Amino acid sequence: MRSNHVRLNCGITLPLLGFGTYSFPNDRNTTEVAVHNALEMGYRHFDTAKIYGSEAAVGKALNEAICEGEVEREDIFLTSKLWGSDHHDPVSALKQTLKNLGMEYLDMYLVHWPVKLKPWVNYPVPNEDDFEKLDLESTWAGMEKCLEMGLCRCIGVSNFSSKKIESLLDYGSTTPAVNQVEMHPMWRQGRLRKICGDHKIHVSAYSPLGGPGNAWGSTAVVDHPIIRSIAFKHRATPAQVALKWGLSKGSSVIVKSFNQERMKENIGSFDLRLDDEDMFEIEKLEEMKIMKGEFHVNGTTSPYKTIEELWDGEI
Ligand SMILES: NC(=O)c1ccc[n+]([C@@H]2O[C@H](COP(=O)([O-])OP(=O)(O)OC[C@H]3O[C@@H](n4cnc5c(N)ncnc54)[C@H](OP(=O)(O)O)[C@@H]3O)[C@@H](O)[C@H]2O)c1
Repeated sequence: MRSNHVRLNCGITLPLLGFGTYSFPNDRNTTEVAVHNALEMGYRHFDTAKIYGSEAAVGKALNEAICEGEVEREDIFLTSKLWGSDHHDPVSALKQTLKNLGMEYLDMYLVHWPVKLKPWVNYPVPNEDDFEKLDLESTWAGMEKCLEMGLCRCIGVSNFSSKKIESLLDYGSTTPAVNQVEMHPMWRQGRLRKICGDHKIHVSAYSPLGGPGNAWGSTAVVDHPIIRSIAFKHRATPAQVALKWGLSKGSSVIVKSFNQERMKENIGSFDLRLDDEDMFEIEKLEEMKIMKGEFHVNGTTSPYKTIEELWDGEI
């Protein structure tokens, strides 16, 4: 694959096309095969998380490819994430993640959500009484410890609003390298990109197609008549238009496909040239947040009583 990388504020380079590994149902063998296929096609950036249940399969496939000499560990960029139940002890959580992956280090460890859960909450949708008082300062201190111990090369956050980024910059000693957030032509993150850009924090786009096919996802982006007409004009596909829009904004895009044709199609987004008129048309699309995170909101134990509070009004 072409050398499409960005240098992060922590000094390492990140391949702009990421391979997402959240899938439901989560089948170990399917994920392993998909990662092998992805490596063969040139994907080098892999995104997993403890809560996806995909760490073991991703690690197994990557290790097999490394052992067989198909790829060097140094050429892979591997991200995983700290789940809410592990905010108490990020170092132990990361050690467990590395064990699951069979790896000595991660390239990137992200705080998955600005939410602290009771230690046993190893499921993606917390119950009403599963939340604990949020203490992002101590969570971030734990992340910094992971970095100092060499368990990961960089640390970052995910699902952080501009306000949460700005307060992290006050209490943290390390600036996050990445903020991984929902971003696509219908959720453009203009304000967040500006604030992150001012602090050299790279914005990585998850659900860059709007997650079509996911239970919570939407086909609104890939089916949008404007996206479809831009694709038609360039003899490209709607998915390629959505991905190239994210890349054109300087973001990396973490796209999930376990289908070989669509995996290739997504790589093809690098070859598409969007002109000023295309970018202008996309800028005018109505905005629509798809991953609202309502499962982290309740009127009792969650620190967020409303969705607006979770996103600090950026919704
Ligand atoms: N940090 C977070 O909180 C967070 C949240 C959500 C996601 N993520 C990460 O981001 C990754 C991607 O997000 P996502 O899976 O939600 O959304 P996405 O990548 O926008 O969409 C994935 C869906 O689109 C389909 N698809 C892929 N390529 C396509 C194409 N060219 N044309 C049409 N459909 C296509 C996939 O099906 P097929 O597999 O059948 O192709 C899958 O159903 C996840 O896997 C995960 O690693 C992170």
